[in-house]
Amino acid sequence: MKIKYAIVFIFIVALVIIEKESNIISSWFLTRVSVMMQRQTPPQTLQSPLDYGNKTQNSPGAFSEVNATTEANSNQTEDQHDQELRNLDGGRKHVLLMATTRSGSSFVGEFFNQHGQNMFYLFEPLWHVERMLTTTADANYGSQLPGIYRDVLRGLFLCDYTPLEKCISPPPQNHVTPSLFRRESSSSLCEENVCSPVAKDVFERYACKNRRCGPLNLTLASQSCLTKQHHAIKTVRVHQWETLRPLVEDPRLNMKIIQLVRDPRAVLASRMVAFSSTHQTWKALVQTGQVPENNVEVKSLQGNCDNIRWAAELGLSQPHWLRRRYMLVRYEDIARYPMQKAEEMYRFTGIPFSPQTREWILRNTQAREGDSGIYSTQKNSSEQAEKWRFSIPFTLAQMVQQLCGPTMKLFGYKFVDDAKTLRNKSISLVEDQMFL
Ligand SMILES: *[C@@H]1O[C@H](CO)[C@@H](O)[C@H](O)[C@H]1NC(C)=O
Ligand SMILES: *[C@@H]1O[C@H](CO)[C@@H](O)[C@H](O)[C@H]1NC(C)=O
Ligand SMILES: *[C@@H]1O[C@H](CO)[C@@H](O)[C@H](O)[C@H]1NC(C)=O
Ligand SMILES: *[C@@H]1O[C@H](CO)[C@@H](O)[C@H](O)[C@H]1NC(C)=O
Ligand SMILES: *[C@@H]1O[C@H](CO)[C@@H](O)[C@H](O)[C@H]1NC(C)=O
Ligand SMILES: *[C@@H]1O[C@H](CO)[C@@H](O)[C@H](O)[C@H]1NC(C)=O
Repeated sequence: MKIKYAIVFIFIVALVIIEKESNIISSWFLTRVSVMMQRQTPPQTLQSPLDYGNKTQNSPGAFSEVNATTEANSNQTEDQHDQELRNLDGGRKHVLLMATTRSGSSFVGEFFNQHGQNMFYLFEPLWHVERMLTTTADANYGSQLPGIYRDVLRGLFLCDYTPLEKCISPPPQNHVTPSLFRRESSSSLCEENVCSPVAKDVFERYACKNRRCGPLNLTLASQSCLTKQHHAIKTVRVHQWETLRPLVEDPRLNMKIIQLVRDPRAVLASRMVAFSSTHQTWKALVQTGQVPENNVEVKSLQGNCDNIRWAAELGLSQPHWLRRRYMLVRYEDIARYPMQKAEEMYRFTGIPFSPQTREWILRNTQAREGDSGIYSTQKNSSEQAEKWRFSIPFTLAQMVQQLCGPTMKLFGYKFVDDAKTLRNKSISLVEDQMFL
């Protein structure tokens, strides 16, 4: 093995020298060689999820020099080669749907969950990672979260549950757990071949809706995952997602990142319905008319808005490593044009749109097929999405505008200056805007 590495290393050095003469060819070779090398290392060489020391990336050492050269020459041609190389792997795609709570991500996640036999979809697996914050004795756990999120995601995209298992509590026994968060929300985890028999006379909460399944056998889940062509994961937990760069650059993965955003005024209105503490706080603030800077809820709203904006600014700036791998979607557009938007998202991922997804959207939004133009607006789902305009106090809408102004501007959400405009349905609060 050592000799092999040495030969390859010399090969690369030679190529770097030749490079000056013929840029395209050598950078193409470099990419190819590094992909071949990565392929030779077995997929299970993940670093342990709790070992975040000072490693930045897990690329094999001999190739850490290579990136400078490939980056410098990066352009269309190389991107295409990169894409082609990754397509050799059966065209497998890894979709990460990133959102924040109350932004419609469960609904949009269904577009992938409903895809059918070729898709392995997971709903919020990072819930377990975040929850460890409350149980771990490690005081630094919080600061390690982004790295742990990344490594758990990498494992899951590669069908390796080891990193996730370390975060499930109570710990799985022989890779079997009854405690996977919202298992029933992933149809992949309730398929027949992932459904272990229910022991007789044992009282259990059955986690699947359509099937009586015993506790989840993660070995079966992993085996099933390996047979699926595409993998998708929805999460509301990743915020500083530049930490995901090593995943995007991992040649074993073909990442497509979809960032879902929603009007922060709507998100807050929805949070107030869902969480009573949020409701109490904001109700009190509305009465005083003041926005205290050090209030926890205020800080959290502003922090969320800033995080979402920074993430989107990063994506929209199209750094080389994200090119053609990032898409920004507004929930309001999906509510208005669910079928068109779903098709657009599928086109972006490179995964064929499926009849099952189409049917699910028709059933759940009353969208009509083939509609276009102004009357194609999906009355039902878009009315649902605009309900907040009638429940939110105008003063509160103003507070959100004050705290989240730059974020709202970036995504094209219109400010309102009076309650009349807020409540007037014939005035849209969403600018028509294309992203990328
Ligand atoms: C990372 O490296 C720094 C300096 O080299 C060291 O002080 C620190 O303990 C290391 N962190 C870990 C987790 O190993
Ligand atoms: C390789 O890329 C990393 C991160 O993108 C960067 O920090 C490093 O300096 C690069 N290596 C070289 C030799 O330039
Ligand atoms: C890609 O880079 C090569 C040299 O590095 C250059 O000759 C070629 O024109 C570039 N192509 C594009 C599309 O930028
Ligand atoms: C889980 O599934 C694997 C693969 O079929 C099997 O070998 C293992 O015995 C199962 N574990 C349990 C506890 O049933
Ligand atoms: C949307 O459709 C559902 C199901 O048909 C119905 O129950 C609901 O009242 C409709 N909502 C609106 C706002 O029209
Ligand atoms: C709502 O807005 C429309 C368009 O600006 C305007 O024509 C209409 O009079 C408004 N309705 C109310 C009740 O203010």
